[in-house]
Amino acid sequence: MFDSGVGGLSVLREIRSLLPNESLMYVADSGHVPYGEKSPEFIRERCRVLAAFLLSQGAKALVLACNTATVAGVAELRELYPQLPLVGMEPAVKPAAAATQSGVVGVLATTGTLKSAKFAALLDRFASDVRVITQPCPGLVERIEAGELDAAATRELLQGYVAPLLAEGCDTLILGCTHYPFIKPLLRSLVPESVSLIDTGAAVARQVQRLLAERDLLATGPAQPAQFWSSGEPQAMQHVLPLLWGSAARVCALP
Ligand code: DGL
Repeated sequence: MFDSGVGGLSVLREIRSLLPNESLMYVADSGHVPYGEKSPEFIRERCRVLAAFLLSQGAKALVLACNTATVAGVAELRELYPQLPLVGMEPAVKPAAAATQSGVVGVLATTGTLKSAKFAALLDRFASDVRVITQPCPGLVERIEAGELDAAATRELLQGYVAPLLAEGCDTLILGCTHYPFIKPLLRSLVPESVSLIDTGAAVARQVQRLLAERDLLATGPAQPAQFWSSGEPQAMQHVLPLLWGSAARVCALP
């Protein structure tokens, strides 16, 4: 699995809990985080590099644990590796459209995800009967990378992004970036109890399980300890791993 940084660990946790026999490898592209404001061409290049690295380490399947990388790069990776079980992520528009009572859904995601043609197609397909209000959240990923999950500055930033969505009557908020589940408790404290928060980590884990089962690739265990690489400062990731992954582990520099 890979992400622009540590956000994809929210998805890795779902996979660990559903598929405890699988040996997991995770690359944080923290040397290039955030992806949210970068060009699709740049992100596609990173997708090619990171996918090739994980395959060279023996990965039997690949998860793009990043909405922004998926909208930019998943199609090209599918062309490059047509046989590989490959799972990408997209904001949970369909379940949100089904869940809303007020008919107004808010989407918190990166600029790159919200500007993409893939996201526009998702809205056309599943959200024709509801009003969807999009909210890019620049700066939030950096706070989460630093492990500042409930710091005052993070709260203030998030409050500024969420208040307009609530003012428009949103009763359902989509967490359209894999970093955001880590600030779900903070978000919960900023919105009324009646507002639903929807993310896709668990659904992605089930999709990985389905693809592996179809190809008879499910591991019987025991799993190897999860392996971590970072293209940024390995120490920085090592520092936040206990908080975000739940236990300490060594992080290697991405070669
Ligand atoms: N975690 C990513 C996502 O799901 C990208 C965040 C970023 O690097 O801007 O979109």
